[in-house]
Amino acid sequence: MQRMPAKVNVLLVGGGGREHALAAAMKRSPRLGALYTTHPDNPGLAALCRPTDIPFDLKEMYRLEQFCGRAAIDLVVVGPEAPLAAGLADRLTSERTKVFGPTAEAARLESSKAWAKQLMRSASIPTAEARVFKDAESALTYVRTRDEALVVKASGLASGKGVYVCEGKQEAFDAVRAMFVERRFGDAGSEVVIEERLQGPEVSVFAIVDGRNMVILDACQDHKRLLEGDAGPNTGGMGAYCPTPLIDGPTMQAVWRQVLAPTVDALRREGFEYRGVLYAGLMLTPGGPKVLEFNVRFGDPECQCLVDRLPGDVVELLFAAASGRLEEVRLDDAPAAGSVCCIVLAAAGYPDAPQAGAVIEGVPEAEAMPGVRVYHAGTRRDGERRLVVAGGRVLNVVGSGATLEEARQRALAAADAIRFAGKQLRRDIGHQALSVKAGKRR
Ligand code: AMP
Ligand code: GLY
Repeated sequence: MQRMPAKVNVLLVGGGGREHALAAAMKRSPRLGALYTTHPDNPGLAALCRPTDIPFDLKEMYRLEQFCGRAAIDLVVVGPEAPLAAGLADRLTSERTKVFGPTAEAARLESSKAWAKQLMRSASIPTAEARVFKDAESALTYVRTRDEALVVKASGLASGKGVYVCEGKQEAFDAVRAMFVERRFGDAGSEVVIEERLQGPEVSVFAIVDGRNMVILDACQDHKRLLEGDAGPNTGGMGAYCPTPLIDGPTMQAVWRQVLAPTVDALRREGFEYRGVLYAGLMLTPGGPKVLEFNVRFGDPECQCLVDRLPGDVVELLFAAASGRLEEVRLDDAPAAGSVCCIVLAAAGYPDAPQAGAVIEGVPEAEAMPGVRVYHAGTRRDGERRLVVAGGRVLNVVGSGATLEEARQRALAAADAIRFAGKQLRRDIGHQALSVKAGKRR
């Protein structure tokens, strides 16, 4: 197997805040050679990376393959799940080029909830009891027979929108019809998973995996609801922090033993060398941690918190995982100190109908504040080179500090320094953790 080059040329795939955070972390590594982005229209990425000389189009992967050859790319880092599910890792892996991210078949862990359930069942991994359906009639019949609260999920990729946590039978009937009859999620909803509704706090656990070995990162907590106090509609995530006191050392050990290690082993038994991030979305139930879902990539916005707390050099870690050689990486002995808090600044109208175009001011002032980083998620330069809103989640403001409260205050001060019309943010990121510390755990 090939050794790590002295300087690693990287192609970073993806164009949001997660990728900007990865690019910024890689730029700080002495092991980075050239860094290319598929999304130079993101001003944050444009400032750090060279653009590829081809348009990014998953229907024309051969162009990316040729680009990797031309630019002598050693490592492709894939941020989002869709390119992995479409087979980008299969296509770009070559003798020279290693890909951080699993093959399409292994990416079914995220792209097919039905397949993931089957794998979990075969490996006795704790998760909600579930049944899989391929037609409305049998799904509706099943709902009629169940008394417990149910969750109805489109099996395929639905940008985090294909999950209905149902309050009663009627909601479950409606969810089944939305998927099979209205086809609200297209083919992603032609297979439907119906499972028991679990209770408890949610945490995200991340491991960098090289096929056999893994490095476990800090557990994070995301905040999916738009409004403070976890109210309002679901979003792609309004903020995250880490580490989280909601999961203690023994529970992390249990997650490693009962979830992460058996998942990688089960994937190997199926014939997959899983290389990339294994992200387990967990619910900490009274009966122990249970898997809600797997993802095959870093969380967004969790990644924005994690990149500064990796236990080694980021380029070395990702290259070693992509080449199946994690055991050769030097890791820090001590865990990262302090806390990190990421606040998402969202556009007016987000999540239903985000409005583009508002002019953004104050980013340089925010970036100059101590312990603060700002990542671009949905921004663009307009014709006059002004920074404007161009997506639902606009900017990610990350504060670091000795404590979670300090990290949050720093992120908030920077978030307040950034101005645009209709800006939405949550000021309570980390509230569950802070109430645990205050002894108010519910
Ligand atoms: P998923 O995409 O499967 O993680 O689901 C999205 C969200 O729905 C999760 O973050 C949970 O808040 C909720 N959810 C999913 N499955 C369950 C479940 N079995 N019980 C309770 N809530 C769930
Ligand atoms: N933070 C949730 C996700 O990336 O899916």
